[in-house]
Amino acid sequence: MVDRMSHVDSGETVRGVENLVEAAQLRQTCATWPTGVAAVTSAGTDGVPVGLAVNSFTSLSLEPPLVLFCAALSSTTWPRIRAAGRFLVQVLAADQHDVAEVFARSGGDKFAGLAWHRRDGLPELAGISAVLKCSLVEVHTGGDHEIAVGRVEAVETFGKRPLVFHDGAMHTLPLPRVAGSGAEER
Ligand SMILES: Cc1cc2nc3c(=O)[nH]c(=O)nc-3n(C[C@H](O)[C@H](O)[C@H](O)COP(=O)(O)O)c2cc1C
Repeated sequence: MVDRMSHVDSGETVRGVENLVEAAQLRQTCATWPTGVAAVTSAGTDGVPVGLAVNSFTSLSLEPPLVLFCAALSSTTWPRIRAAGRFLVQVLAADQHDVAEVFARSGGDKFAGLAWHRRDGLPELAGISAVLKCSLVEVHTGGDHEIAVGRVEAVETFGKRPLVFHDGAMHTLPLPRVAGSGAEER
């Protein structure tokens, strides 16, 4: 199938063109870019905890403090986060591969069997590397995704090394080499 998309050509004009790159090729190329893995969680109007795994999280602005993530239109969790209007971005720690896998699966109770508590009513997982509490301030369209912009209201870091996603697999960073310290995992 040929999609139409907006494209800035070498003449700096915006026009509709055919997709020039196959989706699989684009996915494979973008997978060369290493990222962290975050669980974005919220609580529906019924208070039920919901969440999904994302690697599209990024910082956007310091003044005002904004971050973003991209949610697939196919996500069943994103409409609930959008309706709630607030969410937690939780940077997963190096030993949380299993948590990432749970949050990357659609449907079911993703919190069953995991340790978690509520932070201002929002579900926060135990053992994470960092958390950002956000209110949803903007949603932009982006092809088959939506771009969710959150205003950061609170942050906390826990000094844990992060989980890394690269080439379609989860990795951990090597321990830093600090002369004479015998650097240890925290
Ligand atoms: C490492 C990793 C990163 C992901 N990043 C995103 C992302 O940025 N946005 C997104 O919508 N889905 C992302 N996904 C896929 C969702 O986590 C997955 O589709 C999940 O099943 C959605 O669940 P839901 O239907 O409950 O929303 C990612 C999955 C993995 C494993």
